[in-house]
Amino acid sequence: MKKIIISLILFTSTISAQYTDITIVKEVKVKNKGVVISAHPLASEAGARILKMGGNAYDAIVATQYALAVVYPQAGNIGGGGFLVGVKNSGEKFSLDYRETAPSRASHDMYIDKSGKANTDLSQNGRLAVGVPGSVAGFFATLKYCKLPMEQLIQPAIDLAEKGFAITLQEADLLNSNKEIFERYNKTGIAFVKNVPWKTGDLLIQKELAETLKHIQKFGQKGFYEGKTAELIVAEMKKENGIISSEDLRNYKAVERKALEFDYKGNQIVSMPLPSSGGILLAQMLKMASYENLEKYQQNSARAVQIMVEAERRAYADRAEYMGDPDFIRDKTTYLISDEYLKNRWKSFSFTTATPSSAVGKIITQPKESTETTHISVIDKYGNAAAVTTTLNGLYGSKVVVSGAGFFLNNEMDDFSIKPGVPNMFGAVGGEANSVQPNKRMLSSMTPTIILKTGKPYMIVGTPGGTTIPTSVYQSIVNVIDFKLNANLSVNAPKFHHQWLPETVAFEKNFPETTIKDMEKLGYKAEQWGQIGRTEMILIDDEGNIHAVADGRGDDSVAVE
Ligand code: DON
Repeated sequence: MKKIIISLILFTSTISAQYTDITIVKEVKVKNKGVVISAHPLASEAGARILKMGGNAYDAIVATQYALAVVYPQAGNIGGGGFLVGVKNSGEKFSLDYRETAPSRASHDMYIDKSGKANTDLSQNGRLAVGVPGSVAGFFATLKYCKLPMEQLIQPAIDLAEKGFAITLQEADLLNSNKEIFERYNKTGIAFVKNVPWKTGDLLIQKELAETLKHIQKFGQKGFYEGKTAELIVAEMKKENGIISSEDLRNYKAVERKALEFDYKGNQIVSMPLPSSGGILLAQMLKMASYENLEKYQQNSARAVQIMVEAERRAYADRAEYMGDPDFIRDKTTYLISDEYLKNRWKSFSFTTATPSSAVGKIITQPKESTETTHISVIDKYGNAAAVTTTLNGLYGSKVVVSGAGFFLNNEMDDFSIKPGVPNMFGAVGGEANSVQPNKRMLSSMTPTIILKTGKPYMIVGTPGGTTIPTSVYQSIVNVIDFKLNANLSVNAPKFHHQWLPETVAFEKNFPETTIKDMEKLGYKAEQWGQIGRTEMILIDDEGNIHAVADGRGDDSVAVE
């Protein structure tokens, strides 16, 4: 019997993992046990099983990412890239950057046609949209912090791909609504397309992907970046306009970077540095709002939202102008997050009216267009913490599946600023700092974050959502630290988003009407959005009690060791 249960009740124990019985656990309270939260119950369980086998948080997060590549194909991936932020129980902090890179044959104007028009279809769909995948290199770079061998960490994913698993309603709907576009970009059959519509409980079996994972299990990192898998990726490129070469794959390297650290009201925030804008934006927004003593106001009241929106406006204007791959541009992080700079930037804030976006940044106007990523939060019983956000960029990335290898390739090239002022699929604009250059990493918004109190993990948080990632993480943090909400209320509270351009403020559909009306009176243009963010939060109190919450907006689920 296949059953899918959605549970909103508090569970305090682990759940059994059978690939046809799926239980979604939204909230858990435990002590002295490891916890994994991810976008899919089977992936969280794969991580929790690794903890049970003696693995630490880093083992668990690798196993969960591999499993997500199978059970959450819209965003979980081996054909994309991601970032890991880690804090070991020794206090050591680190970040791993396994962001995709532009292929060596990429060029500054590769998405601009002869008439000077930017072609976002090419940066968003099909083979030319694909950046050199970084995830598998990232998993191998993580091994340095792991206890168990890769052969073991990849096994749950192999089993899931080989035996198949029952899909949820959300997955069935997504696969059905993308059938046509899958067929457009994949001329040979793929596991994700079948003749009759997908329905809840159907088994998704991925034989080709299972073989690819076994190949990585046998040959290590080279099992992806060289040999058979690499050849299949390059052959896929050649079917159309793709430009990733075997050298690009062989040369790809994950990079260990110093995590971005700053203090917020006595809490030590550890987040992702460039090439993600996430950590810088978070620091800028938290600090600017603190100049108005945000904690004095009520959560989601007009005053609180106004302060936060104006902080977002100034931070995102800086994103567009100054942020990009630190190996290619002058890295101004220290200056951009300094109180000296931010206090000056905050001087133009006024409660009486909305600040026009043109007053805080140089606007090059172009019209806007209209999403998938996924976050994992882990704590183990030894006190090691890990946060990963990983992505294919759009839903199912470029929609191209590597024939013979069975996985989706990203469409991360769209995160570059393909032409100054032309919005990407998240409406983000940029300039030279984030222009396309061979081997460069495209600017990201992913914000995997760990917060420490007196040196010990207090919060592990992150979310998908493109440019809404930093603003969602920002709200989740102030909801707990400033507005004293618990993890559940913080994650599931209605959210809002502003990003300098467009000038509008987006509100989730259940956002308090009175706040929106009051904001409109001050000159803010409101827009209603369906959902913002899918946040996974772990809170650990002074006594070591763990409160883990998976966002109610999706199939996201908590698993306990
Ligand atoms: O790196 C980034 O910022 C984007 N590629 C993330 C995309 C994303 O979050 C889509 N998910 N909903």
